[in-house]
Amino acid sequence: MKILSVVGARPQFVKLAPVAHAAAAAGVEHAIVHTGQHYDPMLSDVFFRDLGIPAPDRHLGVGSGGHGAQTGQILAAMDDAITELAPDVVLVYGDTNSTLAGALSAVKLHVPVAHLEAGLRSFNRAMPEEINRVLTDHAADLCLAPTAVAVEHLAAEGLAGSTVLVGDVMTDVLLEVRERALADTTAVDAVLAAAGLARGEFLVATLHRAENTDDPARLRAIAAELMALPVPVLLLAHPRLVARSAEAGVEWSGAVRLHAPLAYPELVGAVLASRGVVTDSGGLQKEAFLLRVPCTTVRTETEWVETVELGWNCLVDPRDPSGTAGGTSLGAAAARPAPAPTEATPYGDGHAAPRTIEALRALVARRA
Ligand code: UD1
Repeated sequence: MKILSVVGARPQFVKLAPVAHAAAAAGVEHAIVHTGQHYDPMLSDVFFRDLGIPAPDRHLGVGSGGHGAQTGQILAAMDDAITELAPDVVLVYGDTNSTLAGALSAVKLHVPVAHLEAGLRSFNRAMPEEINRVLTDHAADLCLAPTAVAVEHLAAEGLAGSTVLVGDVMTDVLLEVRERALADTTAVDAVLAAAGLARGEFLVATLHRAENTDDPARLRAIAAELMALPVPVLLLAHPRLVARSAEAGVEWSGAVRLHAPLAYPELVGAVLASRGVVTDSGGLQKEAFLLRVPCTTVRTETEWVETVELGWNCLVDPRDPSGTAGGTSLGAAAARPAPAPTEATPYGDGHAAPRTIEALRALVARRA
């Protein structure tokens, strides 16, 4: 069996790592296409280096652009890559434009497609990610679900027959990297010292979702709340946030210490050292939960509902981050005490990647 993984954006490199390792352990051939959606070294190369991911077999070099241009360019280039690499199955990850383009190209070339992290839903069709994940699930021959809730969503859309619950591959990699981060804190200590931060006395923040960064009024309102927090905030700024802040006239000051994105082991170390997380990232909400650090999510909904149900995540409406309309303010959410401890494992046991390889084997055997 030959698997072809299609990746392009930062969270996909994290998910690719355990899959690449499980494929190697199972003696399965595995090729990688990097679409080039993310090209900054801190959003791409460092993940391959730190997580021991083999170099991609093809780099499509697509880069940034509008949704249509970016998706279309990846789609066009993927046809040649799939034809040349001749995989038995194409594996796409998550919900980005690279995911949708990889799935569409494969399905039209009659190559079986599997979607990892299938069945997540925000039920917010204004998010580009929601369209990408719904269309990818319906194009896929195999939906690899991370949670029981994702399985329910797929069943509700008539996709039970193509669904397998494998667990969450980000949990696989996080549990492993957590041990490394606990054993060696040198790099994180240097980041904290340079930013003038003390362990346990700061928040880690990220903000990159189009719906938050691309509306100047919304971005200014969220920024005002973050800068007014009574604890220092290590804001790990995605290039999109830097660009949109400049356009919206936001000058980060007050509680906020602006910092470049961190490599994955350092991010995990920084979250472990923090007293909380403020984010609009899907992955970071879950990572905070797995590290048992309280999270505040600046979004009206989340795909990772278990984090909220278990009390470790609190949603703040980005249209009203100061809570003047009666909702929870960002400040109140970020200051809340840690919730009751939990032993719950809604994201699996850290062995989702080997299960993924087995599910791919079964798909290829069925289609042979
Ligand atoms: C993409 C995904 C999002 C995911 C995120 C992870 C889509 C629709 N969105 O959002 O689901 O959570 O990746 O980070 O696929 N840029 C750079 N350097 C880079 C990459 C981007 O400067 O290496 C800047 C460019 O100005 C670009 C902007 O960031 O236009 C947005 O990048 P893009 O890949 O379109 O989407 P993300 O916001 O990163």
